[in-house]
Amino acid sequence: MHKLVLIRHGESTWNLENRFTGWTDVDLTPTGVEQAKQAGRLLKAEGYDFDVAYTSVLKRATRTLWHTLDELDRTWLPVVHSWRLNERHYGGLQGLNKAETAKKYGDEQVLVWRRSYDTPPPPLEANDPRSERGDVRYAKLAAEQVPLTECLKDTVARVLPFWNESMAPAIRSGRRLVVAAHGNSIRALIKYLDGISDSDIVGLNIPNGIPLVYELDDDLKPLRHYYLGDAEAAAKAAAAVATQGKA
Ligand code: 3PG
Repeated sequence: MHKLVLIRHGESTWNLENRFTGWTDVDLTPTGVEQAKQAGRLLKAEGYDFDVAYTSVLKRATRTLWHTLDELDRTWLPVVHSWRLNERHYGGLQGLNKAETAKKYGDEQVLVWRRSYDTPPPPLEANDPRSERGDVRYAKLAAEQVPLTECLKDTVARVLPFWNESMAPAIRSGRRLVVAAHGNSIRALIKYLDGISDSDIVGLNIPNGIPLVYELDDDLKPLRHYYLGDAEAAAKAAAAVATQGKA
């Protein structure tokens, strides 16, 4: 049996301000830092240890990983960064307030933009100052690989090659992985692992900074999964994420 630990980054400044973030590279709030440390303390108390860590190229996930590893006294672990674990790109919504957007377009429309499997938010213009296409960290990618918007289906399509080529082989070879990523890149991975339908995935929300453990069999099929710590608190935090997009 293999254990895979997934952690959504701690609260970011734009989580606090309730703004669509996507690939915008905002940092953690003091609460987010504390959540990341708490995740590390929880993992340590439960006897978890790791051989390799994975994260995105965005600082809210990277710093979450650092604080978690620091609490585990594992700052020396190899860390693999990939843009493929970045948050789902939020297109033209990046920077807008979620509740104000719901006031303007309606809760239903915002739910479609946030959670539908295959309807992306309106795209950014390629020359929009918010576009990441000129960002040096993506310089080696083809322009089309740097999205102007994404639905979850698009995110699944870019996360999966990384899962198949890097993460899954590492797990199969017996390495214990901790992954600090984002609400929707984690949803993309879980959709694939658990075989969740396009309609059921709408109801899945991931809370900030709580380790989510997946127990996998030798074929990497999930046997069970659970949040570490207070299960009720995790469920409440996930439900709160769902309401962020309401007017
Ligand atoms: C964002 O990109 O705004 C958040 O990190 C995830 O947002 P969501 O829960 O609205 O999809």
